[in-house]
Amino acid sequence: MLDRIKEDIYCIFARDPAAQSVFEIVTAYPGFHAILIHRLSHQLWNRRFRWLGRFISHLARWLTGIEIHPGAVIGRRFFIDHGMGVVIGETAVIGDDCTLYHGVTLGGISWKKGKRHPTLGNNVVVGAGAKILGPIEVGDGARIGSNSVVLKNVPAGATVIGIPGHIINPDRKAQEAQRQAIASKIGFDAYGQTPDMPDPVAHAINHMLNHIQLLDEQIACLKLVLQQNGIDFKQKPLPDISNCQLDLGNGT
Ligand SMILES: CC(C)(COP(=O)(O)OP(=O)(O)OC[C@H]1O[C@@H](n2cnc3c(N)ncnc32)[C@H](O)[C@@H]1OP(=O)(O)O)[C@@H](O)C(=O)NCCC(=O)NCCS
Repeated sequence: MLDRIKEDIYCIFARDPAAQSVFEIVTAYPGFHAILIHRLSHQLWNRRFRWLGRFISHLARWLTGIEIHPGAVIGRRFFIDHGMGVVIGETAVIGDDCTLYHGVTLGGISWKKGKRHPTLGNNVVVGAGAKILGPIEVGDGARIGSNSVVLKNVPAGATVIGIPGHIINPDRKAQEAQRQAIASKIGFDAYGQTPDMPDPVAHAINHMLNHIQLLDEQIACLKLVLQQNGIDFKQKPLPDISNCQLDLGNGT
């Protein structure tokens, strides 16, 4: 028990750069107080002292602004930073090494008894104000963006943002960089358009850039195969498009 409490204290140093000392954590971290009291109320709940467990968790809420139902199962090295407004429901399950920020709800979307709250794997980080609702599963190492509302299972390692929560495409940054490279090759400034910005012209041009990128890759591949088979591929020099001026019919 003491070992677990020590772990709950020391994990805070790794996750909060503002943490100064054990004394500070023990005296001034509501997230630590909440988990400490939850460890006790959960024991009482499991031993069927249901009202006492519930009452103690109510006192913890009063003291810390963090509401953890005594029935919730919480793993080791759990850290709630800041804490105010956190709600963790009765049938929520949280793995080891998870971090929650203030305003997080692990809530239900049904009034039926039984499993109705989320299950978080290990090493999950839930950003401030995020709501994870329903008996869904959030895989190991997933990250939930602040203020997102998550209603569907999240695979391990994924990052989810927005309302409703959607997974950030891990290849998106790489694809954007490739697109930017092609855009600058042909002298077009894509001015950082994203899928969230519904400019239909930029959207169409971005698709053309993706298409050109694929064509480039296919030509390079064909060239390689031809060369490997002893066929000399004489590529005509391509004009430097970035130096071309668009003829807009007005002298420019
Ligand atoms: C979700 C999160 C983990 C993503 O971090 P990341 O993988 O480093 O991602 P990036 O910061 O590179 O952002 C990737 C994209 O998601 C967007 N994004 C990031 N967090 C977002 C959020 N919470 N809501 C909406 N969009 C978000 C970014 O604007 C960016 O969009 P772009 O590619 O169109 O520019 C992080 O932004 C987050 O919300 N962490 C929680 C932190 C927190 O609550 N701190 C409280 C301290 S008191």
